[in-house]
Amino acid sequence: MEGIIDTHAHYDDEAFDEDRQMLLASLAPAGISKVINVGASLRGCRDSFDLADSHDHIYAALGVHPSETGDLTEDDMDWIAKKAQDKKVVAIGEIGLDYHFPDDPTPEHQQKWFIRQLDLARNLHLPAIIHSRDAAADTLEILKREDFGRIGGVMHCYSYSKELAEEYLKMGVFFGIGGVLTFKNGKKLKEAVAALPMEALLLETDCPYLAPEPNRGKRNSSLYLPLVVEEMSRIKGISREKVIRITSENAQRLFHFSR
Ligand code: NI
Repeated sequence: MEGIIDTHAHYDDEAFDEDRQMLLASLAPAGISKVINVGASLRGCRDSFDLADSHDHIYAALGVHPSETGDLTEDDMDWIAKKAQDKKVVAIGEIGLDYHFPDDPTPEHQQKWFIRQLDLARNLHLPAIIHSRDAAADTLEILKREDFGRIGGVMHCYSYSKELAEEYLKMGVFFGIGGVLTFKNGKKLKEAVAALPMEALLLETDCPYLAPEPNRGKRNSSLYLPLVVEEMSRIKGISREKVIRITSENAQRLFHFSR
C-alpha cells in the first residue's frame, strides 16, 4: 500500500550531511513511501538528481529558486532541460518570486527567470513547484498570464489567504501543506485548508526547515509528517488513513511517478 508522499524536501542540505543515508533508509519502514527532493540552486539540482538516481523512493525536481537566479544563464536552462529527460525527474522547481529581502535579486530579474522556467516546464510537459513569498500579486498575475492551470503544479508552502486560494483552486493547481499547519500562529493556513477540497492538497516538509509542533525549530524530516497528517485529519474531520490515501493519490495524479 502507498504510504505518505513527501512532495517537497531538501535532503541535499548540509543539515543532513551527518546521517543522510541512514535517514533516507529509515523512511520506508516509517511509512514514507516516496520523496521529491527539490532543487533550489544549480548545485541543489545536481544533488537532487544524484539522490533520485541512487534511491528508488526518491524523485527529483529541478529548478532555481528566485533568490538563486542572480547568475543564471541560458546554458543552465539547457542543462536542466537535458537532465529533466530522466524518468526520475518529475517536476520543474522550485521556481517563483521571493520579495522578502528586497532587490536580492531585483523583482524584474526574478520575474524573468520565473517566466523562463515556466516555459521550461511547459515545453517538457512537467508540472511546476512554485515558491512565492511576500509576492502574492505578482505571482498570481504571472501565473494567470502564463496559463499555469495548463502547465499544472503546486503552490509550495502555501502561505496566502483563503480568498487567494480560491483563485488558485479555479486554476486547478495543488497546495503543498507542511509543518506550518501545526503552528499556533498558523490560523490563516488552517482556515485555507478547512476551505479547500482534500483533492487539492499535498503533503510536504520543506525539510530541514519548518518542523511541525512539537518539534518546531528542530531539524525537520519526512519522519515528522504524521504530525501534519494528524492536524489535517482533525481539521477535515476524516481519518489519518484517508488523509494519507487522498494526498498520495493527488501526488500521483500530479507527478506521475513511474518507477
Ligand atoms: Ni523548498
